[in-house]
Amino acid sequence: MEQKNFKRTLITTALPYANGPVHIGHLAGVYVPADIYARFLRLRGEDVVMIGGSDEHGVPITIKARKEGVTPQDIVDRYHAIIKDSFEELGISFDIYSRTTSDIHSATASEFFRHLYDHGQFIEKTSMQLYDEEAHQFLADRYVTGECPNCHQPGAYGDQCEKCGSSLNATDLINPRSAITGAVPVMRETRHWYLPLDRWQSHLEHWILDGHKEWKSNVYGQCKSWLDLGLQPRAVSRDLDWGVPVPVEGADGKVLYVWFDAPIGYISNTKELLPDSWQTWWKDPETRIINFIGKDNIVFHCIVFPAMLSAYGDGFQLPDNVPANEFLNLEGDKISTSRNWAVWLHEYLRDFEGKQDVLRYVLTANAPETKDNDFTWRDFQARNNSELVAILGNFVNRAMVLTHKYFDGVVPPVTTLEEVDRELIAEIARLKEEMTAALETFHFREALRLAMDMARAGNKYLQETEPWKVVKTDIDRTGTILNIALQTCANLSIAFAPFLPFMSEKLLRMLGGTTITWDMLGCFDLIPAGARIKPAELLFEKIDDDAIQAQIDRLARIKEENQKAAWKPEPQAPDLDFDTFMKADLRVGTVLECERVPKADKLLRFLIDDGMSRRTIVSGIAKHYDPADLVGKQVVFIANLPPRRLKGIESQGMILSAENPDGSLVVISPSAPAAPGAQVK
Ligand code: 2FM
Ligand code: ZN
Repeated sequence: MEQKNFKRTLITTALPYANGPVHIGHLAGVYVPADIYARFLRLRGEDVVMIGGSDEHGVPITIKARKEGVTPQDIVDRYHAIIKDSFEELGISFDIYSRTTSDIHSATASEFFRHLYDHGQFIEKTSMQLYDEEAHQFLADRYVTGECPNCHQPGAYGDQCEKCGSSLNATDLINPRSAITGAVPVMRETRHWYLPLDRWQSHLEHWILDGHKEWKSNVYGQCKSWLDLGLQPRAVSRDLDWGVPVPVEGADGKVLYVWFDAPIGYISNTKELLPDSWQTWWKDPETRIINFIGKDNIVFHCIVFPAMLSAYGDGFQLPDNVPANEFLNLEGDKISTSRNWAVWLHEYLRDFEGKQDVLRYVLTANAPETKDNDFTWRDFQARNNSELVAILGNFVNRAMVLTHKYFDGVVPPVTTLEEVDRELIAEIARLKEEMTAALETFHFREALRLAMDMARAGNKYLQETEPWKVVKTDIDRTGTILNIALQTCANLSIAFAPFLPFMSEKLLRMLGGTTITWDMLGCFDLIPAGARIKPAELLFEKIDDDAIQAQIDRLARIKEENQKAAWKPEPQAPDLDFDTFMKADLRVGTVLECERVPKADKLLRFLIDDGMSRRTIVSGIAKHYDPADLVGKQVVFIANLPPRRLKGIESQGMILSAENPDGSLVVISPSAPAAPGAQVK
């Protein structure tokens, strides 16, 4: 971290789109790390404000509203409430969580635009844009899909290709289609305002490439490649009816581009929270601004918003750091709101009541800090059972239970310190130093591992000192050991406070403590001798296989639904000449017998009345039928195929069946009884 003397820290968290609830990807990427950092700074007594809010404009919201036949306001009201409540329940300690449909935000964003406009910071351009003649609407951003001009993936959006990550203009797409009607768009003229990023090229180069070499390499690297490509003017208005209206005469039907208004949301939310002092948090060089975001937001926070702030001038400060995370996947697949491939926070809180800290722990232990990472339910269970329960919970429980057992819950005094005691004290002090450095530099995974190492050290201490044996001969020494163990518990309540706030508070209450600060971490006089501790309650409980299996089953159902939804019939086969087709002799037959073929789990043996005689046919549909259900049914089969031996049985034809999207097979039958042997024409 740069050694500037800052007086306060403004922490912003990417504003999630209110077009769905938040999921574990959002949490691991942005909100849990931001909250850890905010809690850490507050524990150090620093002046901190943490800003959050819902991003309620943009095309995904209007598309969802249109699909559901409701208004965009209905959509954002619904999801804003879910998101806000679930963040609160998870203990994300925002000082304010607001929304971009608030009046204060429209006024702030509008004024921001107007200020830039009045100061000649925009260029106005008329250009040809895609237009849907059926929907009577210009197609910007996600309203249009097509082939990516860079990686040629079909289904890229008008603002971004999710496959290769490149940022696009709608007019770059190959074979564009309207996402509203599916129509092929036409080109129509329209006028927009552009922020000439090129004017800020050298300013940004100097600020980032020279001034912020300490930034995470993924962030620095992305900025460098943008800057190396050369910045271009970017349109900051859109032809839409949902958003903050462009505050300029003659701009009817035009709104601010969502990525213009959303980051201004950080400013409006600060204003809403601190109407009298907000400027201090944005314009005083002694304020340190940190933007927590996911990697898909890097360009907007490191290039576009800083250019906007610089263009505004008036002392607006640029962020000191933008610790963007990579992505979290779920069970090997990319998390996706539209495909419902996610663990939704509000559902987690319902299914795992009271286990907020478990999720916070797993998402931090597995955080995608330097590369994409995978969340699996088995890993979640293992980390709970073998780390939280078996290491942290176990240590605290042993220390407290033994104190109750040997000292009636009264903290015994320390008599003489031995080498092993001093080693533990030194170890905790060393771990504190490492943790502090890790937290200051946004290495939260590492910091959490170090906190868990404190609990490991506690377990090792009890293992080595064996108070349950010593008690038989030396009650004073037993008292010293348990005093040290309880002081370690108090240290754990501090060390884990940024990560597991619910556990930390509960532990502190059990120990009879009240307030903690980061300075107190490493001290061994946190609970005075003679104080009474409360009864030991379990801090964590095991998560059983059934709870995990239920989640795995839910995902399997979603995967199946998605496969069905994505199913498309096979493209038609090349043309066949009529004579060749006529050579296939298709007949109706009646099933006389049907049974499974031994040692072949896919095969059924049929005996068919084909009108002329009886024939045996072996068919690979055993997984889809109970043979008894087919007896008496009529089927269609190809009669003139050469016989084939399958598992030692000669098959004299092929029964026709159709394959469904889920791979199930259904046999083709005549719609009314037909004479066995009748030809299918
Ligand atoms: O990517 C997103 O989810 C955006 N809604 C983030 C906006 S961050 C900020 F600029 F508001
Ligand atoms: Zn692409």
